[in-house]
Formats: sequence, structure tokens, C-alpha cells
Amino acid sequence: MNEHTQKVALVTGANKGIGRATAEQLAALGMTVVLGARDPQRGEEAAAAVGGVAVVLDVTDAASVRAAARWIDERFGRLDVLVNNAGITGSGPVSPTDALDQLPSSVDLDMVRAVFETNVFGVIAVTNALLPLLRRAPAPRIVNVSSGAGSLALASDPDGPLTRLPASAAYSPSKTAVNALTVQYANELRKDGILVNAVSPGFVDTDINNHTGYLTPAQGAAVVVRLASLGADGPTGGFFGEEGSVPW
Ligand code: NAI
Repeated sequence: MNEHTQKVALVTGANKGIGRATAEQLAALGMTVVLGARDPQRGEEAAAAVGGVAVVLDVTDAASVRAAARWIDERFGRLDVLVNNAGITGSGPVSPTDALDQLPSSVDLDMVRAVFETNVFGVIAVTNALLPLLRRAPAPRIVNVSSGAGSLALASDPDGPLTRLPASAAYSPSKTAVNALTVQYANELRKDGILVNAVSPGFVDTDINNHTGYLTPAQGAAVVVRLASLGADGPTGGFFGEEGSVPW
């Protein structure tokens, strides 16, 4: 038994990558972990592997989000930790560091809409569906998996690392919007003791960047888990990486 043993956590997009590693580490802390996945079989396989339970969850599908929230309510009656991890780049198996189809001058608007649907509107949909359950937990935590690519401070620094990458009108702005939402949710929920933070996991070896990242999913998940298990004196409305605060 420890302080986390009685907690219930939901991780979206948990069948692989950083989400799966996050689920595994939260389970290792003693939490009961619900792995959200669009594909039931992949969800069940990942849940069996990390010692959690699976729920079908497509963050872009309102009925799916409602059904998942209902299932967690019936099964557990509350939620202590929500990790909004599900995300797409919009460029398929091309790493965001190489994607030329997101250049602002030529981007396909439907692609931008699809990216925002998952990365931004999905966060709002899932958070709002789960908030009634989070409010029943003694110390609720919300972690939004953002990206250094969403940092306006880094992107607008002419000598910064991001200006060497192709400009993006889809993925990067979607993560900037996630950061903005994080601040707004934190401001609304501060009085209720719900801590809401955004994280930059670093450049992690997963499908999303065609396995060009240099960190393991477990290394990328570490900061997510740290923010998901914050004590009562923890920050809210911040943006953090493994090294500490990330500039907005
Ligand atoms: P991944 O491609 O391995 O995992 C993404 C997960 O999201 C998958 O489980 C996928 O099925 C799920 N997903 C996509 N659309 C969904 C939807 N509509 N509903 C539910 N689930 C959906 O990639 P990775 O790297 O694990 O990405 C996880 C998060 O980390 C994403 O939000 C990504 O933007 C973020 N991130 C990743 C970085 C990296 O270097 N890998 C760097 C910075 C941020």
C-alpha cells in the first residue's frame, strides 16, 4: 500500500508509445490504470501487458468519449488522474521534423482540422466528460501531453532549435493550443484543487516520428508520470519537461 494504491488513472491513446509507457509506470506506482484505445484488441493487449484494464476510446468521437466516461463511472465511481496523451501529427508516418506538407503557405486545411480534432478538441471533449468523475477524487490531476514544438518562445527564437525544422501550420499550433487550454483549465479548476499541467516528453522513439526519436518511451513517460502523481503542493498551469519548466 502507498499513497497511489487507491487511485484510478485514465491514459488516452495508451495502446502504444508514450501512452503505453505512462500506463505501465502509473500501474507500477500502484494505481489502477485504464488504457484508452480506439482498437479494442490493441487496447486489451496493452492492458494485459502493463497490468491495467482497457476501454474503447476515440477522442474525436463524442459517443465513444461518453461511453468510456460512463464505463469508468460504473466500474470505479471516480477518476484521480487523467492523462490526455492521444495525438497525431497529420503527416502520417513522416516525422514532424521532416514533414513538408504542414508548411503554412501550402497546408491542406482538412489536415489542420483533423489534427486539431484529435490534439485539441479531443482534449476538451475527454476532459469535460471526465471532470465530474475527477471532482469525486480527493486530489485530482490532469496532464496534457504537449510538445516542445508547441512552444512559441522556442519557435520564435531565430537561433533556437525549432527554427531548423520545417514550419508547421498543423501539429505545432495544435500543441500551442493544448498549452493555452492547460492554462485556462488550470485557472478555472485551481479553486477546486485540481492540478492541470502540460508536458513536453522530449524527442521519443515512437511511431509518431517514424522512430527517429532518441529517448525511449519509458524516458519520455517519466515527466508525464511525475506530473500525474504531484503532491498537494504541486504546481498547476505549468509546462514541464524532464529538465524543468519549458518556456511557453
Ligand atoms: P504514437 O503514435 O506511438 O501514439 C499516439 C497514440 O495516440 C496511439 O496510441 C494512437 O492510437 C492514439 N490516438 C491517435 N488518435 C487517436 C484518437 N482519435 N483517439 C484515441 N487515441 C488516438 O506516438 P507517441 O509519440 O507515443 O505520442 C503520444 C503523445 O506524445 C502525442 O500527443 C504526441 O503529440 C506527443 N509527443 C510525442 C513526441 C515524440 O517525440 N514521440 C514529442 C512530443 C510530444
